[in-house]
This record gives sequence, C-alpha cells and structure tokens, in this order.
Amino acid sequence: MRVTTRLVVSIVFAATLVSAGWTMLQVRNERANLLEELNHRGTLLAESLRETTELLAKRADTKALTRIVKKFGGRHHLRGISLHSPDGRSLVATAGLPESSPPPPAGAAMDCGLIPGGALHRCAVPLENSPGFLSVFQDATHVEARIQEVWRRGFLRLLTQVLLITAITFWIVRFDILAPIEKTAEWMRLQRSGEGQGSAPPPGGLLGPLASEAAGLAKSLESARAAAAEEARLRHSGQSLWTPDRLKEHAKERLAGRPILVVANREPYLHVHAEGKIKVLRPASGLVSGVEPILMACGGTWVGHGSGDADRETVDSFERVRVPPEEPHYSLRRVWLTKEQEEGYYYGFSNEGLWPLCHIAHARPQFRAEDWNQYHSVNRLFADAVLTEVEGVDEPCVLIQDYHFALLPRMIKEARPDARVSLFWHIPWPNPEAFGICPWQRDILDGMLGADVLGFHIQYHCNNFLETVDRALECRIDWERFAVRRGEHSTLVKPYPISVAMQEDAGPLPSKDELMRSVGAKGTILGLGVDRLDYTKGIVERFLGIERFLEANPTYIGRFVFVELGAPSRTNIPRYRELVNEVKLEAARINARFVTKDAKGWAPIVLAIAHHERTEVARWYRIADICVVTSLHDGMNLVAKEYIAADREESGALVLSRFTGAARELRDALIVNPYDVERVADALREAVEMEPEERRRRWESMREAVRENNIYRWGARLVDDLARVRLGLGAV
Ligand code: F6P
Repeated sequence: MRVTTRLVVSIVFAATLVSAGWTMLQVRNERANLLEELNHRGTLLAESLRETTELLAKRADTKALTRIVKKFGGRHHLRGISLHSPDGRSLVATAGLPESSPPPPAGAAMDCGLIPGGALHRCAVPLENSPGFLSVFQDATHVEARIQEVWRRGFLRLLTQVLLITAITFWIVRFDILAPIEKTAEWMRLQRSGEGQGSAPPPGGLLGPLASEAAGLAKSLESARAAAAEEARLRHSGQSLWTPDRLKEHAKERLAGRPILVVANREPYLHVHAEGKIKVLRPASGLVSGVEPILMACGGTWVGHGSGDADRETVDSFERVRVPPEEPHYSLRRVWLTKEQEEGYYYGFSNEGLWPLCHIAHARPQFRAEDWNQYHSVNRLFADAVLTEVEGVDEPCVLIQDYHFALLPRMIKEARPDARVSLFWHIPWPNPEAFGICPWQRDILDGMLGADVLGFHIQYHCNNFLETVDRALECRIDWERFAVRRGEHSTLVKPYPISVAMQEDAGPLPSKDELMRSVGAKGTILGLGVDRLDYTKGIVERFLGIERFLEANPTYIGRFVFVELGAPSRTNIPRYRELVNEVKLEAARINARFVTKDAKGWAPIVLAIAHHERTEVARWYRIADICVVTSLHDGMNLVAKEYIAADREESGALVLSRFTGAARELRDALIVNPYDVERVADALREAVEMEPEERRRRWESMREAVRENNIYRWGARLVDDLARVRLGLGAV
C-alpha cells in the first residue's frame, strides 16, 4: 500500500508541476494578447481622434469631447480622452480620468501601456498643431478578470487530472500488478511445495514476460524433481537405467568437461517464413530425435546445414543460434550451401548414390562425378566449420552423424590429431559386393577410417563394413576386437543401437475421436503409420497387406482404419516424387475397393501427407491401437521405438519389418517380411484380435527393452569409447 501512496504522490506532484507551468504560460500569453489588443485599439483611436480633439480642446469644448467618448465608449471600452500640456498637466479631459498623465518619451510617435493599478490603459500621442499630447484611456479591468479565469480553469483541470490519475493508478496497481503478483506468488508456492505440479501459470497481465520466465523456472524445477525421484527410484530398485542427468554427469566426468560437438547434415531446428512471421520447424528425422537428447543433456554445439529460408535472419555473426528456442540448451552452428552444392552433395551423391547403395530396396544408385566433387567440397566446408568451432579446445570431442560425411573424419583428424572423432552411420551397410560398385569406395572407406570410433546400429552392418574394408583397402583387421588398423591409426567398429527417450507424464490423453476427425478417419480400430515418404519404408507393401487383411477378414470392413502420417521428403529427386504418386494411387484404389454403403464416410486408408510436428505425432502414438512399420530395409527405425516409448494408457501392438535394426531388440513385436503380403495381413489380424493379456505381456516386454536401451545409454556408450581412445594410436 505504501508503494501505491508513494506512486500516487509522485505522479500527482509531477502532474501539478506540469499543470502549473502550463497555466503560467497560458496566463503570459493571454495577458500579452489582451494588451496587444488594447494597444492596437488605443493607437487607432488616438490617431483618428487627434485632429478633432485638438480643435475641440482649443475651444475648451469638454462637452463635445465627452460626446465623442460616449460615442466610442460603448464599443471600444473607451473611458475618456484628455489633452495635456507638454509637462503632463491636464488641459481638457472627460470626467473620471487621472489629473495628470506622463508625457510620451521624447521623439516617440505613440506611448501605450497599463496605468499602475491595472484598471486603465492609456495611449498617448503628441499633438500635431500645438504643444502637448492627447491621451486615450480604455477600460482594462477585463484583463485581470480574464487572467483570473485562466488560473481558475487551470486549477480545475489540475484537480480533475489528479483525481483521474489517482483512480487509474490505483486500478492498475491493484488489478494489473498486485493481483497477478499475488496469483503468481501463490502458484510458485504451490509449485515449490509440489502441490501444483503440471498446473499452468496464471495469466501474467502486465507482468506476462515475468510470468513466462517463472513458468520456465517451474518447468526446470519440475524436471529436476522428476529426475531426482527417478534417480532415487532407480537407486532403490538397484537398477542402472540411463537418465539425462546421469548421462550429463557421466559425459562431464569422462570428457573432463570438454563440450560435445555433433555434426549432422540435418539441423534440428529450421527457421522458415510462414504467414508473415518467422516460424520454427522440427524436421521429420530419426537422426534428430535420436541425437538431440544427448545435446539437451550435455550441452555443446550442433553443426548442420542451414536449410530454412529464414535461417540466415536468426543467426548471430558467428552463424550460431541457441536452441531449442523456448529453452536453449545448446548452440546450433549453421553451414550455408549453394543450390549446386546441395544438389550435388545432398540430393545427388548422398541420396541418389549412397542411400540406394546402402539400402537393399531395388533402386539403382546413381554415381555422377559432379556429385562426388560437390560431396567432397561440402565435406571440406563442414570440416572448416568444425575446426573453427573447436579452436582452442584441447582434445575436442566430435560426434559425426551419417552418410553425408564419410570424408569428414579423416579431414578433421589430419588437421587436429588430438581430436576424438566418432562417425555414426545411421543407415545399413551392405555386403562388399554391393558396396563395391561405388566408383569412389576407397576414398569413402579411407575417409571413414579417419574416425577413432565407427558406429553402426547392429553387428551385422559392422561385419559387412569390415569385410568391405578387408577387400578394398590395404589394412589389418582385428576380428577379435573389431578394429581396423590402417597406417598408424586404428578405428574401433562397433554396434551402438540408437534409441529414444521414454515419454512419461505426458499429460492428459488426447481424444481419439477428435484426432481421427481431424484427418477424416472413421472406425473403431486405429492402425498408424509414420514415415518420411521414402521408397525404403515399404508403404505400398503395407497398403497391400491392409488390402489382403480386409479381403480375408471382411468383418473389419467399416471398423479398421489405417492413418498414414507421411512427411514429404527429398522431393527434388524424381524417384521420391514418383513414390508420392504411387502411395496416393494405391490408397485410392484400395479405398475404392472397400467403400460400402453400410459404413458411410469410412475408408480403410487415410493419407495425411504433410509435415507433422513431433508433438502432433506424439499424440497419435498415444491413441493408435496398432503401429505398422514395414521398411524394406532400415538401419534402426525409430518410429517403432517411439511408439513403444509413448505415454499410453493401454497396451498397443507393433507390426514390425524384420529388415529393421529395431526388430533385433523388439522381439515381442509381430515381426513380418514386408514383401510377404499374406504375412503382413496375418500380423494385422493377430494384432487386432490379440488377447488383452498377451498384448500387455508383449507391450511390457518391449517397453522394458526400450527403457533399458534408451538414447542416454546410446550416448553414454559412445562417449565412453571415445574417451577411452588413446590419442595417436586410435581406439584400442
Ligand atoms: O534414416 C537415415 C537418415 O539419414 C536419418 O539419419 C535421418 O533422420 C533421415 O534419414 C532423414 O533424412 P533427411 O535428413 O535427408 O531428411
């Protein structure tokens, strides 16, 4: 309250000063104007009456003078006229005027001004034909009256202002400042005591920014509390699960506080122009969902291709931006590519060459020398960016991601032999014969072997890699320790099955009806597919399985609906554009086949082809009865694991291709060969008809597998092996 009074008194004081100053100015102006007016009128009168009055004066005709005064007096405030001798004595005057009047200054043509007392105004003009002067007197009482009126109005205005200011100040302080502060304080108290967990902060009003900061703090507090509780629970149950905090501590200790640097083509946050604003997009990328939790836990830098059309507007002078935008944990350093570089390195060599080369999905790899040159030069560009980022850092720790950067490990090691470098290959590695068709296979293998640690998802891919190296390069392979010795350097080749983080306490379950309505899906049993639209994902094969399932089990017509959340991907490449058409045509054909009058508005396959935000996909995972993954070949496939990790109320069922890395861990999924339409259809029926007990058993066992081998464990194992590298000798 004291604050309010002080505020009001200060504001009133300031308002009074301003108002008084303003009124004084008005008074000065008003007085000057009125005098100006009297002067002007007095001058005119004196000049026009001078001749006549001089004549009348000579005749000492005071009556005639008085008549003149009366004639003008009514209109012009004229009070009287007098004629004076040069020394100021009154010779002839109308009644009620002062006895004497000072002569105008020598040489002055006219002398005007107020007479002391302020009630009369005089203008004196020398006579023309005789010595002496004429004085014209005007009534000036209105001048003071007007001035007083100005003061009175000023005072009233001040009073009104003071009242209004006081009322408004009270209102703002009470309702817009004190009330939100009280509510926020109460909300923070509840957060602190743990009673208000998950509740939204009260609207902050004027203090909105402060309230959202407080919300951020509360969120951190909540996750710290959850982490501590989880730690305590794990300690209590003697388990050794990996959590973000545990990974953070582990990495800090193993890397002696050195920051982690991740290099990946795809950036985790793109800034794009949309609807006249700059928006943030999260790409549909298994790599991003897998690797980001590490940087979220440990901090550091992600070096990636700046591919959003507003990316350049959001970086600082070092091309960096802190992310995630809502609550920054690490830096994103953007590397810019020209159209030609992107065409040759990303679309060309990476995705028309290496991608089909490594996936057995029957797409012919395209190898073009120009693409290879761009691939080489972009790897060099990223190497330069990494080297600037690690300048001054002793034994920096660099985690390179994926097939876009096969040459990067060697480039970095050559410049910084003290760097600890790993390369994780997120896609499969084929057998030596298949890889051998690549004209630059030796350069690629040599580049990769610059790394200290080389990771694949599964042992099978490691074996393929080692066999490829064995056939193509001059080197020694240690099959016992799975290491390659080339020259003075050795590289450890090891499986690190990537994973995801379990989603717990994700809030209230979304409404299944609402979500289904949002894409136009109808039915009671919901199947879900989440994919980048890529020919390796077996989307058309999946649809054929659904068709066969409905054909063989017509009781599910009108009841089973499959929603495909497909994110367009790499659409500059013709094969990817063709695939979008194939997927649409196949869905339309199957839908047309099963549409029935009995199930109005129902279609078995609903396509939602668009970029879907992760939060939106997460909602679908929570309500879908079945998730279907039918990749024809896939390194790991994190969609399968994300579905299992979702925070659901009921157990779900997973139909999973045996050609994914995930199938090695999620043994309780319904494993299928996606090329075998009958088997896919059978698995769908099994999933739909599975006894609740069996469904729960399988679900729990798969959740246990993901919980145990989560993304933090993946990060910890990589960091461990990197930290163990003996520099100069490589991994041992
Ligand atoms: O699955 C391989 C992979 O490179 C992932 O690592 C990545 O998340 C995904 O493909 C997406 O590819 P892109 O970055 O080309 O969209």
